[in-house]
Amino acid sequence: MSSARYPGAKPSLIVRKLHPENQETPIHFITGDEIDHKMFYRRNHFSYPTLTYSNYWLPINGSVVSPRIFSVQDILKLPSRTITAVLECAGNKRSLFEPKVFGEQWENGGISQGRWKGVPLRTLLELTGIQAGATEVVVEGYDYGKRTDLDNIYTYARSLPLEKALHPDTIIAYAYNDQPIPFKHGYPLRLIVPQWYGMASVKWIKQVSIVDSPFKGPFQSIDYMYYPNKENDNNSFPVTTINVNSTIQRPLNMEVLDTGKHIIKGIAWTGKGFISKVEISTDFGKTWSYANIMNQDQERYRWFSWSYEWVVLEKGDYTIMVKATDSHNQSQPTSPFWNRKGYGYNAITKIKIRIE
Ligand code: MTE
Repeated sequence: MSSARYPGAKPSLIVRKLHPENQETPIHFITGDEIDHKMFYRRNHFSYPTLTYSNYWLPINGSVVSPRIFSVQDILKLPSRTITAVLECAGNKRSLFEPKVFGEQWENGGISQGRWKGVPLRTLLELTGIQAGATEVVVEGYDYGKRTDLDNIYTYARSLPLEKALHPDTIIAYAYNDQPIPFKHGYPLRLIVPQWYGMASVKWIKQVSIVDSPFKGPFQSIDYMYYPNKENDNNSFPVTTINVNSTIQRPLNMEVLDTGKHIIKGIAWTGKGFISKVEISTDFGKTWSYANIMNQDQERYRWFSWSYEWVVLEKGDYTIMVKATDSHNQSQPTSPFWNRKGYGYNAITKIKIRIE
């Protein structure tokens, strides 16, 4: 039906929880590649922090040669880097796991993309120097609170291995789509770690500390670990790189369509490399065809939009399946890797359609 008949009809965020605020991007109704911040998903572990901007400083301390405290002005003067990157919550699609897992029941909208501008963390660490023996960089946010499973109060803090922290595209961002970062997304400074799930991109940075032993904060020793077993923690390992994945934006799951020509469209993304092919099956996986990938420029960190023209002449119920493959030859698996906290769901994408 023509949208002209619904003037002013606009998508909105999809609420998962309000306190703390967790809302999904209406991914099926997003058209561009740079999501307006109002439609950017929001994932918070605690209440929003209270910050005094006039008194905002960024300390870098720990195993550095000379600790420094940077003002935002200092940071704005340094050479910048702009990166368009997918930010995907590790819990995106959690609701699809079988058996079900506890936690925020994200559907497909725990993902967004846009243009972040900032200073490579590396540049700041070159100014402070790093002591021999340093292994990780801990980035702490201003938000804090009590977890359900522990007694103490914790801030949101996570570490990166030195190698990832020093990657020139790991940036301390101060702008999103050419505007100061919106408060809910980490103003004035947030970390952006391309290729890793969103938990690594710490918002509202309070301080950066270089350490020489593994950081054990609960947001990486309890949460954001894959636990393959239901009953125990055996064989657990950390959540890091985004898995190859895709989402069908149109048609919608369980939509009723008529016979004829329909455009199936969506996005595909991966943490390592780029999307090399997107395959579609409209007969429950018996036969597969290639979808047309729009951005062929092999740009890193971005999602790839794809589309496929489906001509359907017979009435009935159909399952549409999408399988993305990346340049490291990783494909979406037939079944997801089940894990107790429900991270990294990336099984072949499926929707059902009725043709009448
Ligand atoms: N940073 C802080 N300080 N506090 C948080 O709760 N959540 C993380 C990450 N950084 C979080 C944080 C998680 S799990 C994700 S997926 C992303 O921020 C979400 O970023 P967004 O709310 O800007 O979409």
